Amino acid sequence: MEKIIIVGPASQILGVRIAQELGIKSINTETKSFPDGETYLRINIEDETLIQDKEIIIVQSTGPEANSNQNARLFELFMMINAVKRMGASKISVIIPYLAYARQDKIFRPGESKFAEVLLGFIDALGIDELYVVDLHAPQVLESLQCSKVINIDSMKILADYLLSLGLEDIVVVAPDKGAIERSAMFARHFGEDVPVEVFEKHRDVKTGEITMSGKLSLKNKDVVIADDIIATGGTMANAIKLVKDSGARKIYAVATHGLLLQQAKYRILNAGADDIITTDSLNNETSKVSLVKAIIDYLK
Ligand code: R5P
Repeated sequence: MEKIIIVGPASQILGVRIAQELGIKSINTETKSFPDGETYLRINIEDETLIQDKEIIIVQSTGPEANSNQNARLFELFMMINAVKRMGASKISVIIPYLAYARQDKIFRPGESKFAEVLLGFIDALGIDELYVVDLHAPQVLESLQCSKVINIDSMKILADYLLSLGLEDIVVVAPDKGAIERSAMFARHFGEDVPVEVFEKHRDVKTGEITMSGKLSLKNKDVVIADDIIATGGTMANAIKLVKDSGARKIYAVATHGLLLQQAKYRILNAGADDIITTDSLNNETSKVSLVKAIIDYLK
């Protein structure tokens, strides 16, 4: 069965690269906003039989960008799925490198919605066969999906390989908070058997979002990798970096799968003392030094 990649407007580089690596055809989309703000999307084809009976792979990230926001990116995704379904695709696989709303996975304050689950349920209900996400903030939200295959792609090995290529020595992995310990422990194993994992105590005010962090570690002359799933405002990283620096680290790398890097995040992180910021290309920005192409293709094959 012929496979075709539909390259979503938010994942143009990643989508084309995946198609090229797999040696299959790619089709892009046309998008605009109507005068009333509604999203418009069409798959860029003139002949709908091109999609009929084909295995379609849609690639669309859903992060905020200068010319778009995550709600519009999600609507584009819904429309791509609906369009290929309507045109008779025989199988629909959806790759969402960065899933918006993933951090709204639990109730922090009375009256909130568990929207991560709602959103995934909606994507599932559009009639997809396979879903691929990357290092999802809370993977348990994937558990109730009905589609036949759900994969949470792990980017830790490719991030670790990149860091090792920089020649890091005496590595310590630091988790910026308790929620990141498990992930950091798995990450550390890619650097070697006995690479230690340390953690700080983080508190985020649920009303103001303000972060406080504390802890003193023994990091003299160590190369420290601070690993998180997402860098958003950079507050978590900047706080951790200051403490790591005070603990005597030699080099400090701020590493995350998803670099939202909102507002002054890059400045905050580098100004706090990081030597570099390293993220994957789940979102497009100048810190995307590690490409997910190979990791995604390994799962698609
Ligand atoms: C929170 O639990 C996440 O894993 C990240 O630590 C958080 O999203 C980072 O946000 P910010 O960069 O705004 O501190």
